[in-house]
Amino acid sequence: MKNSNIVEFRFLAEPTDVNFGGKVHGGMVMKWIDQASYACAAQWSKRYCVTISANGIRFIRPILVGQMITVTARIVHTGKTSMHIYVVVRAGYPKEDNIIITNRCFITFLATDETGYPVKVDPYIPETEEDKLLEEAAIEAKHFAKTLDSDFEEKLGWK
Ligand SMILES: CC(C)(COP(=O)(O)OP(=O)(O)OC[C@H]1O[C@@H](n2cnc3c(N)ncnc32)[C@H](O)[C@@H]1OP(=O)(O)O)[C@@H](O)C(=O)NCCC(=O)NCCS
Repeated sequence: MKNSNIVEFRFLAEPTDVNFGGKVHGGMVMKWIDQASYACAAQWSKRYCVTISANGIRFIRPILVGQMITVTARIVHTGKTSMHIYVVVRAGYPKEDNIIITNRCFITFLATDETGYPVKVDPYIPETEEDKLLEEAAIEAKHFAKTLDSDFEEKLGWK
């Protein structure tokens, strides 16, 4: 059977999720993104996975307490051991119809064996035109992240 490349989380934004300004904390949104992406990567690889990098995370609109949150994580590109996931967060009050996109990003996970060593993952093959465009964007994001890695290493002496 074909691996499923999508995971969707749905829940309500709670009072404990907010910051001092009364809106959902950015760090909480990043946690939701990381959790949904982990589930997506583990579902695809059937392995324990670790986060490698998160790229282009965008806070487009604030999220408010009581809104229903949908976090959709979707594998859009795979390498040998890495899975590149496109995540979209949507929010809206359950009593209303105006659901909006609040966040999006690319996040990359690596599949590991029991000892933490990287293992190969099944290749993801894009099918639709949208799949192909998302894969292209994910590859660009990966190149950007790697360029940043080498810039840090060469210019700032950090690895
Ligand atoms: C993940 C980790 C093992 C990668 O090690 P590394 O030596 O930096 O990476 P490598 O050069 O071996 O590359 C491994 C894969 O990551 C990809 N990769 C490396 N840097 C990347 C970046 N900045 N963005 C996206 N992908 C990247 C590579 O393309 C490669 O994928 P492939 O096998 O599909 O070609 C290492 O960085 C690590 O242990 N990080 C900590 C993980 C962690 O604690 N996460 C948070 C808690 S889960």
